[in-house]
Amino acid sequence: MTPSKAHVIGDIVISARPFADYVAQFALSDPMLRSGRVLDCPGGASDFAAAVRNMGGQATSIDPCYGGSTARLTQHITADLTRVLAWTAAQPGRFPMDEHGVWCHAPAWRAAADAFLADFRRDRDQNTGHYQPAALPRLPFLDDSFTLAVSGFLLFTYPRQFDVDFHLRALRELLRVAAEVRVHPLNDSARNPYPMLETVLEHLAEDGIRVDLIAVPGQSDTRDTQTLRLTRR
Ligand SMILES: C[S@@+](CC[C@H](N)C(=O)[O-])C[C@H]1O[C@@H](n2cnc3c(N)ncnc32)[C@H](O)[C@@H]1O
Repeated sequence: MTPSKAHVIGDIVISARPFADYVAQFALSDPMLRSGRVLDCPGGASDFAAAVRNMGGQATSIDPCYGGSTARLTQHITADLTRVLAWTAAQPGRFPMDEHGVWCHAPAWRAAADAFLADFRRDRDQNTGHYQPAALPRLPFLDDSFTLAVSGFLLFTYPRQFDVDFHLRALRELLRVAAEVRVHPLNDSARNPYPMLETVLEHLAEDGIRVDLIAVPGQSDTRDTQTLRLTRR
């Protein structure tokens, strides 16, 4: 198949990556998820945190999209999945399709969104606090509230929406509340590496943060092969 040109997606999507994608893209292990508190920021419509809780762990999700009504959020998630499917269909050499010409990850994303919405409704009914509306670079937590924070498909993915100062403030805020932060991917939605990565990492190293790059298998895009691990010393 001829490779098609990669396109940026445009407005920020509320996506629904399934738990299995998180485990692969952030190189997570069972013990990491079962011991300590995990923050998913942004959680979007992923079922990651619900799955961590189902396996006996503790996880909290943050996203500004949790602030409205459940009905509105449901509509937004459905509309964004439709937008993602049109975007993948326009790049057939980049994204694998099924026999009906639909992106092969679509069923897993739909299932993750359904699991998320069921858990989100439970949260609203029972006031569990598992899903909190907030936006980087400010998080509603005390210092050191989490052992691990994972941040997927927001930082580095949308360089047109967020400048370098935002990225630095967001990463420092994640490191304030979590001892370790993992960020994936390091490319934007058209596969361009984030151009200011070195600058951001130099500032964090000056703060005394340990910086590592982990090799991972790309899930929604096979070229997303790196995850940034930041650890407070
Ligand atoms: C592409 S989704 C990623 C969701 C999930 N991590 C995944 O991989 O499926 C990006 C999310 O970032 C959220 N978002 C937008 N601005 C944000 C901010 N300033 N702080 C935290 N989340 C934000 C959006 O509402 C959206 O749900």
